[in-house]
Amino acid sequence: MAEDTSTYPKSRAEGGYDTSIVRPELRDRQVEPRGRALGRRQRKAVRKALRTLHSLEIMAVNIYKCQITGDATPLDTALTVAMANEMTHMQDFQTHLYEYGFTPDKLRARFWAAGYVIGFGSRVLGRDRVLKTGVWAERKAVDHYGRLLAGADWDDETRAVIEKDRADEYGHIVRWEWFLNRPRP
Ligand SMILES: [Fe+2]
Ligand SMILES: [Fe+2]
Repeated sequence: MAEDTSTYPKSRAEGGYDTSIVRPELRDRQVEPRGRALGRRQRKAVRKALRTLHSLEIMAVNIYKCQITGDATPLDTALTVAMANEMTHMQDFQTHLYEYGFTPDKLRARFWAAGYVIGFGSRVLGRDRVLKTGVWAERKAVDHYGRLLAGADWDDETRAVIEKDRADEYGHIVRWEWFLNRPRP
C-alpha cells in the first residue's frame, strides 16, 4: 500500500532560514577570494572548520546514497532529496575552501568510506535503522555546525552559507522524525 504523505512536513523555515532555495547557476561575482587579511591563527581555524564541514558532507552524501533502494517509496524519494541537499553542502564547502586559498582534507577518503559503511549497514537493518541513522547523523552535523560557527571569524557571506546549510540539516531531522513517527506502511 502506498504511504500517505498528506501530512508530510512542509516547513520552509527550519531554524529561521529559508530551506527551499533553488540553486541557479553560479555567477563569477559569487566566487571571490576570502579571508586573506585574517591572521595566521584565524586562517588556521577557518581551514580546520571548512575541511571538517566538507568531509562531513562527503560522508552524508554517501550515507544517503547507500540507503536509497530504488523502490519508488516516499522514503526513497526523501532519501534522494537528502542526498542531493548534501551534495550542495559539499559544493558549498569545497568552493569556500578554495576561495580562502585552502584545499580539502587529504584524508577525506576516510569520511567517504565511513559514509558507505554507515549507509549500507543501516540499510540492511531496515527502515527504522535507516531513519534513526539519519537523525543521529543530522544531530551530529547540527552540533558540528554550531561549534564551527562559533569557533572561527567568518565573513558575513560565508556565515550565511553555513547557517543556511545547518537549517537544511534541521529540515532533514524533521523529515526523518516524521517518517519514524508514522505507522509502518
Ligand atoms: Fe549537510
Ligand atoms: Fe543533512
